[in-house]
Formats: sequence, C-alpha cells, structure tokens
Amino acid sequence: MLRRLGWLVLYSLAVLLLSCLLFFKKEAMLAGGPVASQPFWAPPGHRHSQCLPNHTVANASLSLPSRHRLFLTYRHCRNFSILLEPSGCAQDTFLLLAIKSQPGHVERRAAIRSTWGRAGGRRLKLVFLLGVAGPTPPAQLLAYESREFADILQWDFVQDFFNLTLKELHLQRWVAAACPQAHLVLNGDDGIFVHIPNVLEFLDGWDPAQDLLVGDVICQALPNRNTKVKYFIPPSMYRARHYPPYAGGGGYVMSRATVWRLRAAMEEAELFPIDDVFVGMCLRKLGVSPTHHAGFKTFGIQRPLDPRLYRGLLLVHHLSPLEMWTMWALVTDEGLSCAAPLPQ
Ligand SMILES: *[C@@H]1O[C@H](CO)[C@@H](O)[C@H](O)[C@H]1NC(C)=O
Ligand SMILES: *[C@@H]1O[C@H](CO)[C@@H](O)[C@H](O)[C@H]1NC(C)=O
Ligand SMILES: *[C@@H]1O[C@H](CO)[C@@H](O)[C@H](O)[C@H]1NC(C)=O
Ligand SMILES: *[C@@H]1O[C@H](CO)[C@@H](O)[C@H](O)[C@H]1NC(C)=O
Repeated sequence: MLRRLGWLVLYSLAVLLLSCLLFFKKEAMLAGGPVASQPFWAPPGHRHSQCLPNHTVANASLSLPSRHRLFLTYRHCRNFSILLEPSGCAQDTFLLLAIKSQPGHVERRAAIRSTWGRAGGRRLKLVFLLGVAGPTPPAQLLAYESREFADILQWDFVQDFFNLTLKELHLQRWVAAACPQAHLVLNGDDGIFVHIPNVLEFLDGWDPAQDLLVGDVICQALPNRNTKVKYFIPPSMYRARHYPPYAGGGGYVMSRATVWRLRAAMEEAELFPIDDVFVGMCLRKLGVSPTHHAGFKTFGIQRPLDPRLYRGLLLVHHLSPLEMWTMWALVTDEGLSCAAPLPQ
C-alpha cells in the first residue's frame, strides 16, 4: 500500500515537472520567436561578452580621441553571438540584400520593406544588420519586429560607427553559415534606394563563380588627419599615403566567389575602423580590383526627384523615408512623373 502511494507521488511529480517545462518553453517561444542564441530558461536581458579590454593598448593611446581609444582597446574582440536571427534564405536565392541599420531606425526599415525591399520576389532576400544600442527602442519592440518580419540580424556588440567593420565580418560568417547559395550580395545601408529592376538587369547572366565587387569606387583616397572629423585616422593607425581603392559603403554588390574569399581575408586581417576601407584592404590582399559603375550614386544626387535620372541608375544613397517613398512612386508609376512637378 505504502509502496503504491510512493509510486503515485513520484508519478504526479514527474507529470507536474513535465507540464512546467512545457509551459515555460511555450512562454519562451511566445516571447522569443526567431531569437535563436539564448536558451529559453536564460534570464531576459543582455549578457555581456567576455572579451576583456587590452589595457596596454588603452594606456598607449591616451593622446587619441576617446572613440579611437575605445576601438583600439577592444579591437581584438571579434567573436560576438547572434541575438536576433532572420528566417533562412530560400534554396534559389539569387540576391541577398544585406542592409546595415541601427536599432532605432524603425521608420527606415519600414520604408524599405514597403518600397524597393519588396520589389524582387522570392529570389531576393532582405536582411537588416544591427548591433545593440541603448534602451530605445526597447528590446521587446525589436523582438516583435523580428517576429513580424523575420528580417532582423542582430549581434551582441555595441552599435557604433567604428564597429561597422565588426558587422562586415559577422555578416560574412552568417552568409557562409545561413545563405551560401546566394549568387550575389548587395551590401548597403538603410539610407539607400535600390532600383531593383535595373540591378537585376545589370546582374543578369553574371557567373557567381567569377570575382566581382562593383560600386562607386574611390581611388587614391587620403586618410583624414583632422582630429575633429568623424573619419579621422592617425598615422599610428594607418601609415601609408593613400587608402587602397574601395567601393563607397553606401552600397555595392559582390559575387559569391568574392564573398567567399573576402571572408577568409577578413578573418585574418586586423580590424580597421572604417568599414568600406577595410573591405578595400582585404580586396587588395586578394588581388581583386573593385569595378566602378556610374549607376551607384553613393554620394547622393543633386535633383533626386528628376525621373530622367532613373535610366541606368542602380542605387542612390542618403535618402529619408519620405524621399524613398517619393522615388518609389516615381519609379513604379510612370504617370506621376508627367503630372504636376514634384518638389525639388
Ligand atoms: C595588448 O596589446 C598589445 C599591443 O598591441 C599586445 O602586444 C598584447 O599582446 C595585447 N594583450 C592582449 C591580452 O591581447
Ligand atoms: C594602465 O594605466 C593605469 C593607470 O595609470 C595603470 O593602473 C595600469 O596598470 C596600466 N596598465 C597597463 C597594462 O599598463
Ligand atoms: C574567435 O573565435 C575563433 C574561432 O572560434 C578563435 O580562433 C579566436 O581565438 C577567437 N578570438 C577571440 C578574441 O576570442
Ligand atoms: C564595439 O563593440 C564592442 C562590444 O560591444 C565594445 O566593447 C566596443 O566598445 C565597441 N567599439 C566602439 C568604438 O564603440
């Protein structure tokens, strides 16, 4: 009798434990969606990465601006985990649109999703690349956005201009792991308008096994030595007179072969704080020359609303969400460009 009671108690305990587990798992799934990297029982909130600052470097760079010091102090930290992950690429993904964004740029992402970001059909895959910013927007909102659109790829490093290079490196790793089938990758930021039909026409028939990096190529650029400028680089961080040729970071396109080789080069390179120059440095190591194309307007255009510009245009940089909508309307509705003149 006592024995049977004991079994009964044990059995009920086991059932209770199992239902608790299932319940928590369901809760976690409701709260987590595509959040991949954290086990569901981990407390919510942000774990800090274990990589420690290098104080020798910090002490040796006291004369530099604080952002440069910070960069150098943490330059050796280059393994960060994924916090939010998008849905995977389809087997027949042709073009991956990898768009650097920031947690707070909710409207920019919304504008892209509802304009050129939905233009290409299922062979295009849109992904936004994010670091971690302060308390706004709250992490829950980002998690919601990620569940709703499944296009957020967020890593556990601080969102900062000097950490864009970390984004490049981690993007390469993600592509290799989750989207290696993409023929081409368009890498840009969330202020660009991409003329998808023109881009697809330009890329049509390109062999993804050939090296290609095409964009607005800048040659013989001089490192900026003015401490007050965002792009300031002291000689101690880059000694040579010129940067290698590089494609302006607003937006450029790479073939699968180049993405593959760039990844290996980036893994070996020491990080440099300016992301597009860093890519140029890695290209030079590989012996690949970036190709210039006048359709990549990474410095913007003078009269963005002149529809005659769109012939041959591949991509324009520095647009607000409103300008993006206007441009989308002009590109998709031919009648509009003949109607009343739009504001310049
Ligand atoms: C810190 O940086 C110095 C100078 O670059 C280097 O020699 C040293 O190995 C680094 N220490 C660590 C722990 O990474
Ligand atoms: C860096 O400087 C601080 C303060 O002067 C000192 O306490 C620390 O020992 C130094 N660290 C190294 C690694 O030189
Ligand atoms: C990053 O990860 C790679 C491979 O897992 C490892 O070789 C490297 O030492 C790690 N670097 C740091 C700074 O943790
Ligand atoms: C880059 O991110 C790392 C990890 O979050 C952080 O320690 C570092 O300070 C950031 N760098 C800059 C320049 O903000």
